[in-house]
Amino acid sequence: MKAVVLEKTCKANELKVSEVPIPEVKPDWLLVKVLGFGINRSEIVLRDHEADEDYINLPVIPGIECVGEIIDPSNTHFEKGDIVVGLMGGMGRSFDGSYAEYALLPQKNVFKIPECVFGYLLIEEIISIPETYFTAFGSIKSLKLKKDDTILIRGATSAAGLSAMQLADAIGATIIATTRNENKVGNLLLNRADYVIIDDGNIEDNVREICPEGVDKVLEFVGPKTLEDSMKCLKKGGICCNTGILGGEEYIVEFDPIKSIPNDRYLTSFFSNYPTQELIDELYIFVAENDINPKIGRVFTDLEDIGEAHELMESNKAYGKIIFRLEK
Ligand SMILES: NC(=O)c1ccc[n+]([C@@H]2O[C@H](COP(=O)([O-])OP(=O)(O)OC[C@H]3O[C@@H](n4cnc5c(N)ncnc54)[C@H](OP(=O)(O)O)[C@@H]3O)[C@@H](O)[C@H]2O)c1
Repeated sequence: MKAVVLEKTCKANELKVSEVPIPEVKPDWLLVKVLGFGINRSEIVLRDHEADEDYINLPVIPGIECVGEIIDPSNTHFEKGDIVVGLMGGMGRSFDGSYAEYALLPQKNVFKIPECVFGYLLIEEIISIPETYFTAFGSIKSLKLKKDDTILIRGATSAAGLSAMQLADAIGATIIATTRNENKVGNLLLNRADYVIIDDGNIEDNVREICPEGVDKVLEFVGPKTLEDSMKCLKKGGICCNTGILGGEEYIVEFDPIKSIPNDRYLTSFFSNYPTQELIDELYIFVAENDINPKIGRVFTDLEDIGEAHELMESNKAYGKIIFRLEK
């Protein structure tokens, strides 16, 4: 089969497709023909520097998510022909992932896609959902987002941010979206933002011009770099969920929770590493029932274009999920 095999850290244009054996099925693992997969920031991080860490089993086929058809269910409860999501749990890091024509996946990280959604969503849309919408959905659940809440989504032009906006809009929340780029304001308004703020890292005053008492919820995709400023934007009782690290900082050095979390405000987070069948069902049905058309930035069809796909993500110009829909 064709696969992208990462042997050491490299630049995007150094990624190569190799011919490798189709993996052999073993108990509790099933073989999936990859119909498509999305590109993720964590795969850029893996290729760029994380592959040098001890816990990465090199050589590895990257790819933390896919949509695929089961070719051999082994001894699992799945059936040949089931269309499934493969997601997280070490995929593309501690075992081979989805940048390939076939993937051998542990059953605990494989989830059947509810059949009812196939009438509503195109296959490209189904492929664009797993990691990005699961992350947005989980974050919105962590925030206990409800109708009539005002939510500030920081890093809103990211694929996850655009997804979160669509989910928040379906719930009925008022949305304040941020970008650093004036040129993206129009698109954010078209994607149902009620207000857009140009983010220079300090936006409390801009937020309070719109909501003098502060917002009910903040969804942070920029992350630790702007987290303390985000918490200042909350009203009493408000919740901030830290989900992303787009700002390039994973930690807050010398974080002082007593001073950094204002009184009667709450800090939570979301980590997509623990998908369940129940949550995947809920997510796909929510997207289909609310007529949400996932935002797709670009569809590639040839694995040979993997380097171009990574470069596109690094350019911040995709405006939506970058996916591969592999040709049969
Ligand atoms: N917690 C989890 O389990 C989990 C799961 C999945 C993803 N994530 C994280 O969620 C975030 C979004 O992922 P994605 O794949 O949706 O991203 P993406 O689509 O690649 O994001 C692209 C956007 O990032 C913004 N951006 C880039 N560098 C930035 C910087 N230094 N400061 C502020 N904004 C910056 C740009 O916005 P503008 O140019 O418009 O400002 C650009 O439009 C990432 O940090 C990812 O690691 C977390």
